[in-house]
Amino acid sequence: MERTLGIIKPNATKKNVTGKIIAMWEDAGLRVVGLKRTWLTPAQAEGFYAEHLGKPFFGNLVEFMTSGPVVLAALEGEDAIQGNRRLMGATNPAEAAEGTIRKLYADSFTENAVHGSDSPASAEREINFFFNVFELI
Ligand code: CMP
Repeated sequence: MERTLGIIKPNATKKNVTGKIIAMWEDAGLRVVGLKRTWLTPAQAEGFYAEHLGKPFFGNLVEFMTSGPVVLAALEGEDAIQGNRRLMGATNPAEAAEGTIRKLYADSFTENAVHGSDSPASAEREINFFFNVFELI
């Protein structure tokens, strides 16, 4: 069993497809073990995406991630990290395969509907960034 962090980003919450994305996670064998809807502050978004600090898209990324509500989900399942990344599709929605979350709901490279952890170390850091131990059941 493995855990990963999924984020339903502001363009997707605006489209009112939170339930549809959660259903795609569940249909892919992932279990929601932690869930919250919130509106990130700039400090939270900057801290979460600290590894991208200094990259040309960083400012846009933080602006977008703080532009509306997000849904944070800790997801558990076998091969959860890579399984969720396959389900999300390519970061660039123009390259996302049919049937993926980004093919369905992404609008651009930045407004790409969902985030998913890319490694076990990132998953642990990202889940702990938003959830405490009592919120993961
Ligand atoms: P995400 O999986 O949340 O991780 C970092 C985010 O930065 C990524 O999704 C994109 O939304 C954004 N991103 C990464 N690379 C680029 C890029 N080259 N141009 C614009 N946005 C990017």
